Amino acid sequence: MENFTAYNPTTLHFGRNVLNQLGITINRFGKKVLLVYGKNSIRSNGLYDIIKQQLDAIGAEVYEYSGIKSNPVVQDVDAAAAIGRENSVDVILAVGGGSVIDSAKIISIAIPVELPAWGFFERKMIPRTAVPLVTVLTLAATGTEMNQFAVLSNHETENKNGYGSALLYPRHSFLDPQLTITVPENYTAYGIADLVAHCLEAYFGKGEEATLSDRFVFSIIREALEYGPALMNDLTNYELRAKIMFAATMALNGMTMFGRTSGDWGVHSIGHILSLLYDVPHGASLTIVYPAWMRLQRENLAHRIRLLGKNVFGTEDVDLIIDRFEGFFSTLGCPVRISQAVNEAVNPDEIFRVMVLNKVAANVHKLTQDDYRRIIEIML
Ligand code: NZQ
Ligand code: ZN
Repeated sequence: MENFTAYNPTTLHFGRNVLNQLGITINRFGKKVLLVYGKNSIRSNGLYDIIKQQLDAIGAEVYEYSGIKSNPVVQDVDAAAAIGRENSVDVILAVGGGSVIDSAKIISIAIPVELPAWGFFERKMIPRTAVPLVTVLTLAATGTEMNQFAVLSNHETENKNGYGSALLYPRHSFLDPQLTITVPENYTAYGIADLVAHCLEAYFGKGEEATLSDRFVFSIIREALEYGPALMNDLTNYELRAKIMFAATMALNGMTMFGRTSGDWGVHSIGHILSLLYDVPHGASLTIVYPAWMRLQRENLAHRIRLLGKNVFGTEDVDLIIDRFEGFFSTLGCPVRISQAVNEAVNPDEIFRVMVLNKVAANVHKLTQDDYRRIIEIML
């Protein structure tokens, strides 16, 4: 087992009507609130009114930034940070999925500095302090509600990159599975795929003797295999929404990586290129890349794939295991080839160029430029 440090300061409020405590929680940080959210969903499903009631009850002074895009961009972060800075907000409240929460995380470290937020991603500056962040999660997928990561796109520099800092953990995250009932079928499926992919990235990290962490991974994937398809057939079922929401949080809050130095993250790194170039939703990018990556790594990782297959599918046949993952993603309704996700003609050389530009990499199973070419071929 590898050495590890366990740290997770996020307080999680999980279950029916937990939002009753939102106002009181915000009030502990102050009354000047920067409310950050996405495009339409929280207004059309009534959540906005619930949030406003909670904020009104504590006499909050609310500044809003809305319109955060899926696959969020750094320009929105800079614009929102300027509002927070001008008004000296005490706390940020992010209401939405991974895109909104990730944006709010970077806003929280950008407010105290005068520089464009992309400087953090370019390692031009290190955050020293952050405005406290409280989140209300509305989509089960990324795990951002209980971790220290954020992912942003910058179309000017042609990057979609992740950023990690202990300052990015939300102080509190509110997860009421009822709020995910309006998530459309496609994003529900992408969320299930994303949580499975997080387990796999952890599992293929360094530290193969971390047997307990392996078993956390198997358990979470088995939840997804069992309850994911059930949820796809019954999208308004609270218990199924709750099982998937809990699984998604646990898949990327550190638990699956104890005893490993890191996860692999090569698949995410490639998936981000498809999102950057063709605006493929994050989970859908992973269902294209994961089977292709496993086929690329088939020989190197046969023993790990076999152990995984034995524990989640009851088979040790490597090719069959890869087919079973691909089949699972297809059953959910996710694309498994680029041609199923992108309507325009794609240029493999362009994908390769942007992979090189982004220095697409993995922490453990290194990818060469030949690997880039081979994986693009499999994904087309
Ligand atoms: O903008 P609105 O109108 O809110 O609509 C959103 C958006 O169109 C909608 N939605 C969210 N909650 C809803 C809802 N619609 C109806 N009812 C609700 N309750 O869903 C759409 C997708 O939302 P988005 O936030 O983009 O999805 P997701 O949560 O999958 O987040 C994806 C982003 O997170 C990053 C991804 O790269 C991507 O940029 N990730 C962040 C990670 C992290 N911070 O740890 C790890 C992940 O691997 C991932 O990379
Ligand atoms: Zn992911």
